Amino acid sequence: MNSLERIERAAGVLAELGRPQLAVVLGSGLSEVLPLAAKKTLSFQDIPGFPRPTVAGHSGQVEVGKVGEREVLVQRGRIHFYEGYDLFEVVIPVRAYALLGVKTLVITNASGGIADGFHPGDLVLITDHINMLGGNPLRGPNLDRLGPRFPDMTAAYDPELRALARRVGEQLGIELKEGVYVATMGPSYETPAEIRAFKTLGADLVGMSTVPEVIAARHAGMRVLGISCVTNYAAGLSGQPLSHEEVMETTRRKAAELSRLLAALVPQL
Ligand code: HPA
Repeated sequence: MNSLERIERAAGVLAELGRPQLAVVLGSGLSEVLPLAAKKTLSFQDIPGFPRPTVAGHSGQVEVGKVGEREVLVQRGRIHFYEGYDLFEVVIPVRAYALLGVKTLVITNASGGIADGFHPGDLVLITDHINMLGGNPLRGPNLDRLGPRFPDMTAAYDPELRALARRVGEQLGIELKEGVYVATMGPSYETPAEIRAFKTLGADLVGMSTVPEVIAARHAGMRVLGISCVTNYAAGLSGQPLSHEEVMETTRRKAAELSRLLAALVPQL
C-alpha cells in the first residue's frame, strides 16, 4: 500500500464520524481540553493507517462532535518523530483530515520557554517555526492529490486566525503572547548551549512536535492556528533540570483556561 492509499483508507474510516471542516490537535497533557457534545470517537488503533502513540499522556483518540453549533474533529494525543515513526507517518492523521474536508487546523503543544519574559503557564500564539527535526514530512514523491511539490510557508500560521484568537483572548481576559517555535527531534531535552543557539536564531519556544503537522497542513492548503502552552523554562534558563512531570503538571494547570479559549474560539473559526 502506498502512502496515499494509506491516508485514503484512514480518511474513509474517519468519514464514519462525520465531515467536519475544522480539526483541533491536542498535545502533551492537553488531551482533556475542549470536551465535545454529541460526539463519536475512534481510537487511533481502530483507524487503519494511523500510527499508535506510545507516550504516557497521549491517549490517541479522534472525536467528532459539536462545540455550540460548530462540528469539529478533536484529536486527543499525537504521534511524535521521536517515537520512531517516519515523518510521513507522523503526518498521516493531518493528511487524512485534509482528505476528509478539513480546511482549518488548530494545533496545540507544550513547549519550553526561551524568550525573555516567557514563563511556565504562558499561552503563546505561534507566529512561525524553525524546523530542526532534520527532515521534512513531504520528502519523497509528492502526493499531488493533496498539494504542490514546493508549498509556500510564508504565512504558515495564519495572521487572521491569530488576530481572531487575540480578540477572543481579550474578551475572556486570557493573555496570549506570540512567538516563534523551534522543533527538535527529542526525546532528550535540549542542552543549555542548544537553547542559547536557538535563541540567537530567533526561537522563542522549543518543543518536539507541531512542525511536521503544520508542514503537511499547509501543503494541503489548510489554514493553521498554533497555540503553545509554555510548561517550563528551556534548558539552562532556570538552573533546574527539566522533567516530563513538570510539563504534565503545567499543562494540567492550564487545561481549563485553554478549554475556555478554544470553546469560545472554535465556533468563530
Ligand atoms: N523542550 C522540548 N520540548 C518540550 C519542552 C522543552 O523544554 N517542554 C515541553 N516540551
